Amino acid sequence: MELLLLLISASYLLFGVLGNHAASIPSELYWRNKLPNTPIPAIVHDLLHPGKSTIPNQSNLNSPGASLFFLEKDLHPGAEMNLHFVVSTASGTTFLPQKLAKVTPFSSNKLPQILDQFAINPKSEEAEVINETIMDCEEPAIENEEKYCAISLESLVDYGTSKFGKNVNVLTTEIVSDKEQRPQLRKQQYVVSSGVKQIVSDNLVAVRYFVPTPLVGADRTKIKATVVCHKDTSKWDPDHVAFQVLKVKPGTVPICHFLTEDNIVWAVKNKEN
Ligand SMILES: *[C@@H]1O[C@H](CO)[C@@H](O)[C@H](O)[C@H]1NC(C)=O
Ligand SMILES: *[C@@H]1O[C@H](CO)[C@@H](O)[C@H](O)[C@H]1NC(C)=O
Repeated sequence: MELLLLLISASYLLFGVLGNHAASIPSELYWRNKLPNTPIPAIVHDLLHPGKSTIPNQSNLNSPGASLFFLEKDLHPGAEMNLHFVVSTASGTTFLPQKLAKVTPFSSNKLPQILDQFAINPKSEEAEVINETIMDCEEPAIENEEKYCAISLESLVDYGTSKFGKNVNVLTTEIVSDKEQRPQLRKQQYVVSSGVKQIVSDNLVAVRYFVPTPLVGADRTKIKATVVCHKDTSKWDPDHVAFQVLKVKPGTVPICHFLTEDNIVWAVKNKEN
């Protein structure tokens, strides 16, 4: 079976729309019930409790991602990397409650109905984000990958468990210290501290392994980052930002990247992990 990256960011639609009116605790119970041995990632917990959220204000964000790519050979204890961890999820956003998700048409030709349902001005930035999200979701997956847009936490859990069962690692990146400082997290040098351990999963095709990687920033920010290394990049878009920043060609060398906090990876647990 193939590995699949379930990106929470795929549910932007709902984030943007929902603002504050979600009773999300049932979603949390749903997770615990379906995945009793898999802790809820911190970002998911934060999204379910937007009142206590430390997710940064959207207007403080920069374009994410480019700094987080690196070559596999450069990951080792003591390695120094210039990284910029940003969370692209807007403040106050949360998941769409399952009941509402079930009656929301998730399709580009239903965009006017969606906007109407949530009383969103079609000319607003929110409407644009929703449109973009739906267009992204309707793009076909690239070869060797599978794609699914979950419209609620419940549908994410259902999809994840249908593909991987209940014995799974669900990995993200977590900023462990200075949570209040998150909106100010700047691009800075991080050192990979020791204890890098690969999680190899039998069901991986396009991805080689995951590595939960402890990082310490120049400002002492501690991050438990998850690294994903892709062994085959031959099918990636040749214009992918990773090829530009690393100056390599598609399919030539394994490429790794740190997950941002709102990327989630599911992988079947092996005996060793
Ligand atoms: C977000 O940050 C901007 C700039 O720092 C500030 O002007 C704005 O009031 C903030 N918005 C919220 C909702 O906190
Ligand atoms: C949605 O986005 C697509 C592509 O970005 C654009 O062509 C289309 O006009 C947009 N639709 C609306 C209703 O804004």
